[in-house]
Amino acid sequence: MMFRMFVVNILFLTNIYSYELPFSTLGNSIIDANGAVVRMRCVNWPGSMETLMPEGLQHNSIDNIVLIIKQMNMTCVRLTYSIDVTRSSDLTVYQSLSRLNLTFALQGFMNNNPSLINSTVSNIFNTVLDTLGKYNILVLLDNHVSKAMWCCSDFDGNGFWGDRYFDVEQWIDGLKFMANKTIDRPYVIAMSLRNELRGVRQNQPHWYHNVVRAILEAISFVNPRLLIVISGLNYDLNLSFIRSLPVQNLVPISIQKKIVYEAHWYSWSYYGLLSDCNHIKDTI
Ligand SMILES: *[C@@H]1O[C@H](CO)[C@@H](O)[C@H](O)[C@H]1NC(C)=O
Ligand SMILES: *[C@@H]1O[C@H](CO)[C@@H](O)[C@H](O)[C@H]1NC(C)=O
Ligand SMILES: *[C@@H]1O[C@H](CO)[C@@H](O)[C@H](O)[C@H]1NC(C)=O
Ligand SMILES: *[C@@H]1O[C@H](CO)[C@@H](O)[C@H](O)[C@H]1NC(C)=O
Ligand SMILES: *[C@@H]1O[C@H](CO)[C@@H](O)[C@H](O)[C@H]1NC(C)=O
Repeated sequence: MMFRMFVVNILFLTNIYSYELPFSTLGNSIIDANGAVVRMRCVNWPGSMETLMPEGLQHNSIDNIVLIIKQMNMTCVRLTYSIDVTRSSDLTVYQSLSRLNLTFALQGFMNNNPSLINSTVSNIFNTVLDTLGKYNILVLLDNHVSKAMWCCSDFDGNGFWGDRYFDVEQWIDGLKFMANKTIDRPYVIAMSLRNELRGVRQNQPHWYHNVVRAILEAISFVNPRLLIVISGLNYDLNLSFIRSLPVQNLVPISIQKKIVYEAHWYSWSYYGLLSDCNHIKDTI
């Protein structure tokens, strides 16, 4: 037992001293507070679907899921959420799963995470974040959708500001709500503004306007320590326009070194099955 505790302590110390928070950017790198380049291996943990909470808790305890993430050698989690959870934050797990008639998931949740069945969905996010922090996993909080559902299509009402479910004010309030959770959790190192903007409404003027608004009124306003991850147009395949007008030029100096651009590249992303990312680099 002593030996185990000793090993655990060493692991924690090693991880703690491998980087110094908070992070910022330098050129195309993320650096820690001492200027050392940080490389992260992140796994996506979806939490933006109809249940309004991180998926999988009907199959295993939160602690065990995080231990599996550690075992996979991941150093970071991209935790997705919907704006809906920020607007129904008092709904309990029991109510959320019952309302969707998810009888088996409800039973599974009670078996694997019995103490949390009457917690609110917002508190489930807190507990997941706390557990990730306990095991020294860094977190990127990703606003995936407004209406909780699978993402993404051109016509799902979640693609661009002004779409059926994508209300600008609700989105700003939702970002603030989640940013508030990061204040006492320094291992949450980044928040993204929105996953994969897309659809018929997409345009550059509104992109710049809303991106800058969310930075100034929500993310940096609530927690200036955070990296801010910004998605391009057309499902995040196109960031070409930031060459002529970087978002950095539109925000105060203190925030400029917090800006991170996000580009997506899949085998089905119009670029074919190329083994390198040169095509997407060309659009930036
Ligand atoms: C994780 O890293 C350790 C140490 O570098 C290595 O032995 C192990 O094979 C890795 N595990 C996976 C799943 O990649
Ligand atoms: C859940 O089941 C009830 C009763 O069978 C039904 O009326 C309701 O529409 C169902 N709700 C959903 C979300 O499927
Ligand atoms: C959850 O709430 C129900 C109904 O109020 C109660 O019977 C049950 O004991 C509670 N469970 C926990 C773990 O708090
Ligand atoms: C911010 O978080 C604290 C807990 O850390 C909570 O008490 C408070 O209600 C939250 N405020 C908002 C506006 O969500
Ligand atoms: C990227 O978006 C810009 C601005 O909307 C547009 O002019 C350009 O054609 C797009 N490029 C590609 C490769 O789709």
